[in-house]
Amino acid sequence: MAQATDTLKDTATLEVRGLRVEVQGKEILKGIDLVVPQGEVHAIMGPNGSGKSTLANVIMGRPGYTVTAGEVLFKGQSIMSLKPDQRAQLGLFLAFQYPTEIPGVSVVNFLRSAYNAVKGDQISALAFRKRMKEKMTMLGVEDAMVARYVNQGFSGGEKKKNEILQLAVLEPEIAILDETDSGLDIDSLKAVANGIQQLIGPNLGVLLITHYQRILNYITPDRIHVMMDGRIVLSGGPELAVRLEQQGYEGVRKELGIELERAGDKTAKGETR
Ligand SMILES: Nc1ncnc2c1ncn2[C@@H]1O[C@H](COP(=O)(O)OP(=O)(O)OP(=O)(O)O)[C@@H](O)[C@H]1O
Ligand SMILES: [Mg+2]
Repeated sequence: MAQATDTLKDTATLEVRGLRVEVQGKEILKGIDLVVPQGEVHAIMGPNGSGKSTLANVIMGRPGYTVTAGEVLFKGQSIMSLKPDQRAQLGLFLAFQYPTEIPGVSVVNFLRSAYNAVKGDQISALAFRKRMKEKMTMLGVEDAMVARYVNQGFSGGEKKKNEILQLAVLEPEIAILDETDSGLDIDSLKAVANGIQQLIGPNLGVLLITHYQRILNYITPDRIHVMMDGRIVLSGGPELAVRLEQQGYEGVRKELGIELERAGDKTAKGETR
């Protein structure tokens, strides 16, 4: 194991060790272990509220979470003390489940600022446009979209495409995609999945959070992890997606004999069913 950790320094591997996280006094992540090497695609699937976005946010360093145990390492170093922008500079990227609107800032200006901030490079407007244009052609993004304010009035599908354009422009080493496939129609799903597929290679590792097996028809993961109640309860190869589709999470839960710890929590919070 010591040897394995040494080699991790040379590759952009993302490693989550024994991570426990609380939000407002409630434990959401209950000990997560996960290793995503650069160049591999790992999918995380799991029911609503199981902690998938929490994991993504904590990896990226979003405030508002209390880490009570464990750590996140990238390139062999703990990144727990780094701010989100410093994590981005190191080569991490998160595509949000719910991308936010930035009124008054055009997509092209936003992307250029993000590029300069992440790469520490002052690229000229002309050189940046050329680079962005290449990525837009690859992903099938129309010119009109990048002139608009970030996500303002964008359809659900356009927002997701914009996240992938960001990914393409920023060229991170590990990208976490939080339900990038949700809300997409059949053609958009194909376009977005093909775009991600073109970016995947030896230089990019992906942690793909999804509810649906559909996107895995276009992007074959190296590993699939099933998350329930803040734990990874099952990991396997791509065939696991088919099993999940057939059995549902309930079937897997029963088979593994996992108690439904959170059944009471939901009703206590008054959530509608
Ligand atoms: N800021 C917060 N305040 C209160 N509860 C929170 C907060 N963030 C997350 N939670 C709770 O943590 C649990 C896990 O949420 P999370 O968003 O990580 O789930 P998820 O697996 O991404 O679900 P989904 O599939 O619906 O996106 C939920 O019960 C949620 O209500
Ligand atoms: Mg989520």
